Amino acid sequence: MDQLTQLRSQFNAELLEIKSPSEIQLLDTKYLGRNGLINTVLQHIKEVPADQKKEYGTNLNELKQEIIRSISEKKTFLLQSAETKQQIDVTLPGTSYPKGSLHLITIAIDEITSIFEKIGFIRVSYPEVEYEFFSFESLNMPKTHAARDDFETSFIEAPVHPKWGKMLLTPHTSSGQVREMWRVKTPPVRMINISKTYRPNWDATHTPMFFQFEGLCLDNGINITHLKGTLDYFVKSYFGEDIRARLRPHHFQFTEPSFEVDVTCTVCKGTSINNGQKCKICKSGWLELGGTGMVHPNVLKSGNIDPKIYTGWAFGFGIERVIMMKFGIDDIRNYYSGDIRFLEQF
Ligand code: PHE
Repeated sequence: MDQLTQLRSQFNAELLEIKSPSEIQLLDTKYLGRNGLINTVLQHIKEVPADQKKEYGTNLNELKQEIIRSISEKKTFLLQSAETKQQIDVTLPGTSYPKGSLHLITIAIDEITSIFEKIGFIRVSYPEVEYEFFSFESLNMPKTHAARDDFETSFIEAPVHPKWGKMLLTPHTSSGQVREMWRVKTPPVRMINISKTYRPNWDATHTPMFFQFEGLCLDNGINITHLKGTLDYFVKSYFGEDIRARLRPHHFQFTEPSFEVDVTCTVCKGTSINNGQKCKICKSGWLELGGTGMVHPNVLKSGNIDPKIYTGWAFGFGIERVIMMKFGIDDIRNYYSGDIRFLEQF
């Protein structure tokens, strides 16, 4: 058997044994590589007698083309069958996609809603683009009143309503109080109003858009003890059994008397000591939650409710703030950063 015939049958035998793309690559190098068998045989051409050189060269070239073709066909075959196998191999694990979740604000809104629904409150959502009347006048805050400055307001470029005044981005959910009184008409009223609110502040504890939840409870003979009981119930349900609320005198134009609500610091549990040092979060054992009070008679009048028959209370708290207190988050801007590493923790 001449050298080329021997090489051809050796190649064909080896090709039959090839089972994977990596093996065919090795065979490729073995025969066609720079130091491969074809080149080695080519170097021996000088030993071939001159009259046979031409035929030998042609035969060698034919063999080389044959090997190139066979390797390429085998490669295509192996790759295709690898793909086909993947497509139909039902036992392979599927491609897994990253899991999404609700935003922590949405989770808190759902939780707060269900806490209040358990004691008969109804969840409502009133406009965040509002008229001056509902955000201020109806709440005993006439145009000239200095207290309006406490609720820095962004106005909307829109026609002024002859009765309700300018349009604005509501700075608090209290704008829903009189709307709810108009909707229900006669007490009892038990409202939990959750919506976006706007004030032009931007720092670690304030974003210009934030969420508030507003409670409003009106009926015959409602007094501060009902308010205190409801607040204690809420803070226990939301923050934990060992958390309590306290009322501290304050001033709001739409409540009389008015209070600020503090809750037991969730970090030091009200002891004001954390890890042997004065608690850095609260310094006093208490954290400020938001405003509350007994609804002012003028507000009831705006809502067409007789203050001689009905009394009630209202409160307004920030959602971002309660989440911050619950989880000890120190920068509110994280909520809206869209940073998946922050959001994944909740
Ligand atoms: N609207 C007040 C605020 O945003 C909070 C408040 C609501 C106070 C209801 C009293 C009664 O600060």
